[in-house]
Amino acid sequence: MHRTHNCGELRREHAGQTVTLAGWVNSYREQGKELVFVDLRDRYGKTQVTFITEEGSKIDSIARKLRREDVIKVVGEVRYRGEALVNSKLQTGDIELRAIQLTVLSRSKTPPFEIEGGELPNEELRLKYRFVDLRRPELQKSIILRHNLVQAVREYFNTRDFLEIETPMLGRSTPEGARDYLVPSRVHHGSFYALPQSPQIYKQILMVAGYDRYYQIARCFRDEDLRADRQPEFTQIDVEMAFVERDDILNTIDGLVSFVMQKVRGVTMQTPLPRYTYADVMERFGCDKPDVRFAMEIVDIGDIAAASGFGVFKAVTASGGRVRGLNVKGAAEKYSRRLLDVDLKNFVGDFGAKGLAYMKVTGGKLESTIAKFFTDDHQQQIIARMGGEEGDLLLFVADTPKVTNAALAALRNRLGKELNLYDPSEFKCIWVLDFPLLTWNAEEGRFDAEHHPFCQPNPEDAEYLKTDPGKVRADSYDLVVNGYEAASGSVRIHDSEIQQMVFDLLNIKSEEAERRFGFLLEALRYGAPPHAGIALGLDRWVMLLAGDENIRDVIAFPKTQKAADMLTGAPAPVDDRQLKDLHIEVAELPKK
Ligand code: AMO
Ligand code: AMP
Repeated sequence: MHRTHNCGELRREHAGQTVTLAGWVNSYREQGKELVFVDLRDRYGKTQVTFITEEGSKIDSIARKLRREDVIKVVGEVRYRGEALVNSKLQTGDIELRAIQLTVLSRSKTPPFEIEGGELPNEELRLKYRFVDLRRPELQKSIILRHNLVQAVREYFNTRDFLEIETPMLGRSTPEGARDYLVPSRVHHGSFYALPQSPQIYKQILMVAGYDRYYQIARCFRDEDLRADRQPEFTQIDVEMAFVERDDILNTIDGLVSFVMQKVRGVTMQTPLPRYTYADVMERFGCDKPDVRFAMEIVDIGDIAAASGFGVFKAVTASGGRVRGLNVKGAAEKYSRRLLDVDLKNFVGDFGAKGLAYMKVTGGKLESTIAKFFTDDHQQQIIARMGGEEGDLLLFVADTPKVTNAALAALRNRLGKELNLYDPSEFKCIWVLDFPLLTWNAEEGRFDAEHHPFCQPNPEDAEYLKTDPGKVRADSYDLVVNGYEAASGSVRIHDSEIQQMVFDLLNIKSEEAERRFGFLLEALRYGAPPHAGIALGLDRWVMLLAGDENIRDVIAFPKTQKAADMLTGAPAPVDDRQLKDLHIEVAELPKK
């Protein structure tokens, strides 16, 4: 071993011992002719190494040539610094290592950016030099948090009769709705494997096969447009159980969340986690993944608006639209007219809203350029409905139900953040239940599966399957954390006839269903137990627990928003030989 201790380990009780440390030169400082200080760093911490130099000594001349990020080994004596010199910012601040022998194990080129302090460069540079970036304590913290989280997850499931089972990476297209990453087969000319978008079908087949409690830390691949909280290659905590109903999954995951939070954060969560229906959150928050760390719920004033004298509101309600708003408590003086008329109006405009009406509660009445269109009685009704108090700012959007949802949900999130309506370190999880089974795809004139085609329709809605499919709720659930979809799952169809019926609704023809999912349909005909499952987005959980907003910061080797790996340069062209083996020819891009 090149070391006897790590750089975060030495304490006062080691004083007097001769030890060997190895690590990276974090900083280098000369003090006069006699002293050189080096902060030596590894992933455990930092230790101050002191070289007391003697003119002409060998160690002296080596020490004076050290550069940041050189890798060195130091034999030295641990010294207590004395009360006056203790550095309370370092774990090892009680001591220093008085160097006796110094070996340079490896030299470093000048690093492209500072490990500690200093401005961070653009992310592409950080990703290109990921080996340097990963030395930063912030990233190390996230990578260690990720490890601890995975260990806690495994412990939870392993002690509850779950089996961790791997499913293939090279398989057939799975139905999560994104584009597949394809892998050409050399042996089967013209055929391709698809990398799994999730282990969905395999885990259902495992239930048919009798492995009634399965989990896997599963890698998934989706060729889709990336955002801050998405990666083309990501990890799920994938779970499936047989002989269970919806509430068994919810309870199991409530248990997992509270177990993990206790382990990695020392926080006790209140369970069961609150449960909302999809219809409820859409009405109160305008979206299916509300941030419930703050209130400011959406309120409907459609009936008052319809009876008022304000043309815009009347017209919208008359044409089946809605008038809904937010009460921004105590904010009457916080937003100037310009901010309201330009900034916030344009903001909601991005979500389709044609305007933003605002009123201030002043002297028990409404103050606004449009107040004149509302009688005293209507004003009082609006104030009461909105829970208005002196100094509140009321904001309204009148539009189609869809636009009022989108605009007000986004506005609510923006205001919550900019007015500091919540503690950013808080962690609020809720269940959203009863999503619609299908969503109408107007472009293609057919229904799409809201989650995936294997969700069980809610038995209470069975009658609508034939008459009004859009109304059918799925037996499905999402776990939402601080406004992010952190997990998603459903009770599955375990009857091949119902499965066929849902395929029909999705306009997946029998032959196509047989071709794409025939093996699952066939499995369902050989004794399929009732089963249900869920998948948690591991990367998103770590991101939320780390208090980060960038999923790339919790993945050791992430890809850019353009799905590129800056470190290795993937994706990249391949040799003609390889293409020839695969009988693949790359066509020229058609000219625009
Ligand atoms: P779903 O597609 O909703 O469900 O995915 C489950 C969870 O995985 C996370 N997630 C992602 N994380 C990072 N980058 C991505 N591109 C990405 N896509 C999804 C989210 C999401 O909630 N087979 C079903 C689960 C089931 O029904 O059991 C599935 O994959 O946190
Ligand atoms: P106007 O009558 O168009 O001058 O609008 C008067 C006020 O109502 C302005 O503050 C507009 O932003 C607002 N407004 C206009 N259309 C809408 C709408 N669809 N929803 C909410 N407010 C609106």
